[in-house]
Amino acid sequence: MSDPHETRFPEITRRQVLETGTIMTVSGMMLPTSGHSGPADLPPSPQNGVSLRVSFIVNGLHTTMEIDVRASLLDMLRERLSLVGAKKGCDHGQCGACTVHVGGRRVASCLTLAAKVDGQDVTTIEGIAGVDALHPMQQAFIDHDALQCGYCTPGQIMAAIACVREGHAATPDQIREYMSGNICRCGAYVGIVAAVVQAAPHIERS
Ligand code: FES
Ligand code: FES
Repeated sequence: MSDPHETRFPEITRRQVLETGTIMTVSGMMLPTSGHSGPADLPPSPQNGVSLRVSFIVNGLHTTMEIDVRASLLDMLRERLSLVGAKKGCDHGQCGACTVHVGGRRVASCLTLAAKVDGQDVTTIEGIAGVDALHPMQQAFIDHDALQCGYCTPGQIMAAIACVREGHAATPDQIREYMSGNICRCGAYVGIVAAVVQAAPHIERS
């Protein structure tokens, strides 16, 4: 006989766990992991430096805040706005994990001063899906299993969208060249190129 006080959880299959994890990753919903993302080098609040008031649009929402003039865009997004999709991989502009769009162009947010986005339009991985569907590039990454750990994936997707908009996705070789700033330590490059090829016809050139 079962204990009436026992808490029963619904059975979850390994497949369900994997599918949910994949969608969270391409949507930028993954929480930061201790192995990859330590505390910000600069305090995100303006308490220890000269502060500046900046206004910008992030993922369609007008935002005004006081920032430390030394803060990077990446730290502002992650530490002040809790937009943790963009990842801090190298913090030196070498891995692409932090890629976001500013004014429609891809940037390494770890190398971009937050003060520079004053008056600009910023888009992160959290802002690209439609109301009831993923962005074609997000869907293509799922369709082609273009990720393993998923750490580089938000940056890969933002770079891939920009790559197509720039007109640099005509051939697999061109995709490889113009995506070469985004490193994947899991080596998911074959799937990433296939995903860009699939999504490219569904994304407008700028
Ligand atoms: S964290 Fe910005 S390029 Fe690596
Ligand atoms: S999927 Fe693991 S680093 Fe790219």
